[in-house]
Amino acid sequence: FLSFVTSNLSFLLVCFAHPCPADYISWYENCYKLVEEPATWDEAQTACEEQGGNLASIDMSYDQAFVAGVVLQGKADAWIGLRRKDGSYTWTDGWPVFFTQWGPGEPSNIKDEGCVSMHASIWFHGTWNDTKCDQAKSYICKISSGKTKQC
Ligand SMILES: *[C@@H]1O[C@H](CO)[C@@H](O)[C@H](O)[C@H]1NC(C)=O
Repeated sequence: FLSFVTSNLSFLLVCFAHPCPADYISWYENCYKLVEEPATWDEAQTACEEQGGNLASIDMSYDQAFVAGVVLQGKADAWIGLRRKDGSYTWTDGWPVFFTQWGPGEPSNIKDEGCVSMHASIWFHGTWNDTKCDQAKSYICKISSGKTKQC
C-alpha cells in the first residue's frame, strides 16, 4: 500500500509541480526552452513540433517580459513563432496576434524577410524584427498546457 501511495504521489508531483519536460522552464500554463543551436526558422519550428510544441508565441506583455529575459540570457537573437504570409502575421500555434513588440522601424516588411526574431542585445532588448527565414538563429520552443506528454 505504501508503495502504491508513493508511486502515485510522485506522479502527482511530476504533473503539478513540474508540468514541463525536463529541459523546459515552466511559466504560467506553458513550458519554454531556449535552444542555442542555430537553425533556420523552418528547422526550428520542426524541432519544436517534434517535442510536442511550436516556436514560442507571445500572447501578452507578461509573456513578452519572460521570453525576453530567457533570450537575453542566451545572448543571441532567437526565432519566435511569428511569420508573415500573404502580408499578414500569424503565430504557428494558431493563437491570434493580439500583442506585438516590434523594434523601432519594424516590421520592415521587406520581401523575403517574413520570419520574426527577438533581439537579445541590450539596446533592442526583447523587441522583434522581421528577418530572413533561412538565417540560422537560436530559437525558443513553447509547449502549451495540456500538451505535455507525461500528464
Ligand atoms: C532587423 O533585421 C534586418 C534584416 O534582417 C537587419 O538588417 C537589421 O539589422 C535588424 N535590426 C537590428 C536592430 O538588429
